[in-house]
Amino acid sequence: MQIRAITIFPSMFDALTEFGITRRAIENDLLEFGTVDLREYGQGTHRQLDDRPFGGGPGMVMLAEPVIDCVADLRQKMRQDTPVIYMSPQGRRITQDDVCRFAELPDMIILCGRYEGIDQRALDIICAEEWSIGDYVLTGGELAAMVLIDTIVRQFPGALGNEQSSECDSFSNGLLDCVHYTRPRTVQGLSVPSVLISGDHEAINYWRMKQSVGRTWLRRPDLLDRLDLNDEQRRALSEFQTDHQHQRKT
Ligand code: ADE
Repeated sequence: MQIRAITIFPSMFDALTEFGITRRAIENDLLEFGTVDLREYGQGTHRQLDDRPFGGGPGMVMLAEPVIDCVADLRQKMRQDTPVIYMSPQGRRITQDDVCRFAELPDMIILCGRYEGIDQRALDIICAEEWSIGDYVLTGGELAAMVLIDTIVRQFPGALGNEQSSECDSFSNGLLDCVHYTRPRTVQGLSVPSVLISGDHEAINYWRMKQSVGRTWLRRPDLLDRLDLNDEQRRALSEFQTDHQHQRKT
């Protein structure tokens, strides 16, 4: 997949290109990533990129023309219909399903706004799709773009390495992930649940599924409402709820 990020702070993206799984995905050609410095499209000797809002009010608005010109140049080099994703708190909130669909695309341009936002005419002309990472406001779109790219990269086959798979992620089946333990067997008197060292893989799988359904019920009942649990999951949830009630009593 090819991704270009339009930003006034290109070096913020070093966090993606220099570290961890995203860096490895770039090195292994799973992701072809680059930034474009919007300042190069700024107007006049000062390379101006923003101005005061028509109608008054606080803050500054990003000029339409630098954004339009920058996207036009990129679409010349990429494809005429490469989608432009505009990161904004006014956008549709991204879910894991959206991420899986994004990961199938051949390319995308991610537009990072600053200040109060971008002149609406630019967004209309470039046919930007507006997406948010959550109901809170960041100081700019860069961190949101990095979150989006990170989530997309971990969907690429082979990106997480042999032993890991995004199939077991929280949300991939609509449920939260189960709990995890590693060595030593006891930490400050707390032992690992005995089933995990039983060697009985069927029992381990059932226990993990039960934890996953149970945690979702406890922490994110909204997710559970949207799911149609199968018979085994329903039985596991009922057992989890009984265990939970007993724990609260003791
Ligand atoms: N820019 C500022 N806040 C944002 C958010 N919550 N999601 C995406 N882009 C943003």
